[in-house]
Amino acid sequence: MTHSQDTGLDPLEVAIRVAKEAGALLMDYLSRPLHTAQKSRRADLVTDADRASEKLIIDRLRAAFPQSTIIGEESGTHCGDPEECWYVDPLDGTTNFTHGYPMFCVSIAYERRGELEAGVIYAPFYDELFCATKGQGATLNGKPLRVSMVEKLGEGLTCTGFHPADFERNGRYFRIMSSHAQAVRRDGSAALDLAAVAAGRFDGFWEFDLHAWDVAAGALIVREAGGRVSAADGAPFEVSGKSILASNGLIHAPMQAVLASMP
Ligand code: IPD
Ligand code: CA
Ligand code: CA
Repeated sequence: MTHSQDTGLDPLEVAIRVAKEAGALLMDYLSRPLHTAQKSRRADLVTDADRASEKLIIDRLRAAFPQSTIIGEESGTHCGDPEECWYVDPLDGTTNFTHGYPMFCVSIAYERRGELEAGVIYAPFYDELFCATKGQGATLNGKPLRVSMVEKLGEGLTCTGFHPADFERNGRYFRIMSSHAQAVRRDGSAALDLAAVAAGRFDGFWEFDLHAWDVAAGALIVREAGGRVSAADGAPFEVSGKSILASNGLIHAPMQAVLASMP
């Protein structure tokens, strides 16, 4: 792990501290009336909690890593060194959050020279902290994480999510995966879906048209927990790519084949 050139700080330690602080802020917002607005569509929401969480995270990251680029969902790109980039989802699972459904989290990832080096996902309702550092494994609340050992797609619990404008296309994938996997879930937080693959709770996950802030931390955590991450067609995963397929590795090829069988 490369520490900040300016401050000597460890990105993972900073991300953990900041994610926990933002998580506490979200829990505080959860207990009071929320101001909610639509972004592009009915199921694409932003609340004052998203904005306050993002401001807190960006202020803290900026103070610790003044030279970095920071890309946040709500405020866009804060320019800095292009070789050192933070991806911030201040509240992943906003629709869940607005209904008090507790599957929501903060997701923060650190990338250096195009390589994801640190990832943190914090689910404050459950007080679950998923972390990974490149090459050093993944943990959940300090305990080592490992993907599941399920070998057959027919015995696998899989998960997906829907872009607010993509119920048709992914609806078809949902249907065909449902007839091959043991079951398919839709839980409403891509970052927590990936964390669940890393923890062996889900055996596989796919989704289309996510953003780097949704997947960067989770992709590293899955890999460091022994899983596999690619694009839906098996091509190498890219944080800003159009799709993601993450699994325990053992059911990756069968999931890919099912997705490929759908025109
Ligand atoms: C959304 C969630 C959801 C996924 C959507 C994302 P947000 O993020 O991760 O699970 O299906 O595509 O946009 O808006 O709650 O941060
Ligand atoms: Ca998100
Ligand atoms: Ca978000």
